[in-house]
Amino acid sequence: MKIVIVRNKKEMAKKAALVIAETIRKKPNAVLELATGVTMIPLYKRLVRLYKRKEIDFSKVITFNLDEYAHMPYNNPESYHYYMNRNLFDKVNIQKINTHFPSSNGKEYENEIKKAGGADLSILGVGVNGHIAFNEPGSSFNSKTREVKLSKETLKSNSALFPGKKVPREAYTVGINTIMKSKKVLLLASGSKKSNAILEAVEKPVTEKNPASVLRRHRNVTFIIDKKAAKDLPEKDRYTLK
Ligand code: GLP
Repeated sequence: MKIVIVRNKKEMAKKAALVIAETIRKKPNAVLELATGVTMIPLYKRLVRLYKRKEIDFSKVITFNLDEYAHMPYNNPESYHYYMNRNLFDKVNIQKINTHFPSSNGKEYENEIKKAGGADLSILGVGVNGHIAFNEPGSSFNSKTREVKLSKETLKSNSALFPGKKVPREAYTVGINTIMKSKKVLLLASGSKKSNAILEAVEKPVTEKNPASVLRRHRNVTFIIDKKAAKDLPEKDRYTLK
């Protein structure tokens, strides 16, 4: 596991975008697993900028989003479909037919990822409770794509995004096993709200109580986190400081 601590979220986005650009340069039809959320917005902005500068070509790229709210129309502005279109897909030359989102048919989603050759790179955020995609604490390390109920903590974090509206309680998510099959994993976190989840994932025992901790068992995983998200880590000199 590699931990890269950067000054702020702008640096975090820059570094992550470079990894993605490099992956696509080496393999133009790279298969990417993508997260949503506030953390990814500067990253997608950066990717759009690289595309406009002709430094990245999405024409053959295949994407699988990690999660989506269940029972929500795709054109709902709160859906992850809408988020991805607005922040990335509508702004680059990706073919929409090559973009995928989990649905009630988890088995089919797993097969589609497999048919595409498996994920080359999975970009993850992390919840304040350590969730990755929508795999809440207690999710089995063997879990695959399925419908899940969101935890109280996640509903609380999400409520800010649904002012005056009902917060969705169910979602479709890839499983922890699905994520672990990706050839390479990048996890991004910024802000002090994430510092405890990062501390537990990096330093505490690997446990299903903190889904992000499982990543320590992955062969090729890098955490790119800003100073605030790293603030609880002891002996920071053990990590790569940029
Ligand atoms: C959300 C999403 C995840 C995301 C995480 C962090 O609930 N399901 O895919 O990575 O939680 O979100 P944010 O970046 O908004 O803090």
